[in-house]
Amino acid sequence: MVIETLKLRDFRNYGEIELHPHPGVNILFGQNGSGKTNLLEAIHYCALGRSHRTSQDREVVRKGAEAAAVGVQMRKNGVRMDVQVKLTPSDARKKTIFVDRKRASRLSDLMGHVRCVIFSPEDLMLVKEGPSVRRRYLDMMLSQMSTGYFTALQQYQKALDQRNAMLREGKKGEKPDASLLDAFEEAMALQAEIIVPLRRRMVARAAEFAQSRYASISGREYEQFAMTYACSVPDQADVVSYTRQALRKSRQDDMFRSGTSVGVHREDIALTLNGRDMKVFASQGQIRTAALSMKLAQLHVFRMETGDAPILLLDDVMSELDMTRRTHLLQEINGLQTFITCTDESDLEGCSEQRSYQVFMDREGFAHVHEKSAGETVEQPPENLDDLDI
Ligand SMILES: Nc1ncnc2c1ncn2[C@@H]1O[C@H](COP(=O)(O)OP(=O)(O)OP(=O)(O)O)[C@@H](O)[C@H]1O
Ligand SMILES: [Mg+2]
Repeated sequence: MVIETLKLRDFRNYGEIELHPHPGVNILFGQNGSGKTNLLEAIHYCALGRSHRTSQDREVVRKGAEAAAVGVQMRKNGVRMDVQVKLTPSDARKKTIFVDRKRASRLSDLMGHVRCVIFSPEDLMLVKEGPSVRRRYLDMMLSQMSTGYFTALQQYQKALDQRNAMLREGKKGEKPDASLLDAFEEAMALQAEIIVPLRRRMVARAAEFAQSRYASISGREYEQFAMTYACSVPDQADVVSYTRQALRKSRQDDMFRSGTSVGVHREDIALTLNGRDMKVFASQGQIRTAALSMKLAQLHVFRMETGDAPILLLDDVMSELDMTRRTHLLQEINGLQTFITCTDESDLEGCSEQRSYQVFMDREGFAHVHEKSAGETVEQPPENLDDLDI
């Protein structure tokens, strides 16, 4: 998959820009705060309809603008297609998706067209932070590969929100309608039946690769890195009946806590080194290696499962990595369209098939991107009439 055109309008600190990236490595360099990560975020929006760093669409609309839009035109298996995402936070319909210029009715219609894997310094949180970060890792991976998974997750969340709302009312003294609670819990159990097997399979696949990657990056055979799915349902149990029963049993407790304590929304991936919990004892270096191995595993699984190369987004990671880890990462770049941000262009000397872009902000606070070639600043190619109409 190759992005041929990237277009942004009123997104973060961009007014209106259009880029025609290289099919190989694209280096985005510029001062802190100039708008480099914003470009990666725009690509992430086209893949997943959301940011990788905020859940608030409003934040990405340029200050002073009513709406933002991002779009890519890409070539995939020789076929050209485009996707666009328009954000209008003040409207009832906050997000509008267009696939090949046709308005899509659901966010799930966006999934799977642009696939990307993003590496950023925040990846360390995968090891250090709570379960929600690792669930997001799984959800981002699976949503881009299976529309069914994404839809199940949305439906599960909706039923969970409804259950929680009812329990909150219950805590205030209003007796909850048992048949409605039954219905919400049944909906959650049915979606769990779709979510659990996919997560189980995905963690197993990623774990195998991450383990071998960890071993080769660390160079230590005796350090065994393992990722294990901490599932809400025991291995042999039937997902629907187990989840249904667990929810029913926890009603009283959950009402007291005003939240749902069991279910797939509480799952995790346990990370261990030689059987010991990494969150408790791992060193900085071990955490870095584990996080990088997990992301490389994501890349590997994408390639294996879809037969297509995802877009690779590397946000500020080069300067954070030592030579060994950097080499492992750069090996993966081969054959992938890659966008790399850095503050110093020389961080990436030696990358072949590359194009560099300088990102800078003007006095009014608008970001601009100039393609740089052989040290010279050159103009962007002229607008393509067949371009996106965002
Ligand atoms: N909604 C918005 N409207 C206007 N400007 C915004 C908006 N959101 C963020 N910005 C601006 O975008 C800039 C940050 O962009 P970005 O995070 O891409 O920087 P960066 O080049 O990646 O910097 P660093 O090298 O520090 O990571 C800041 O100047 C910020 O003020
Ligand atoms: Mg940045």
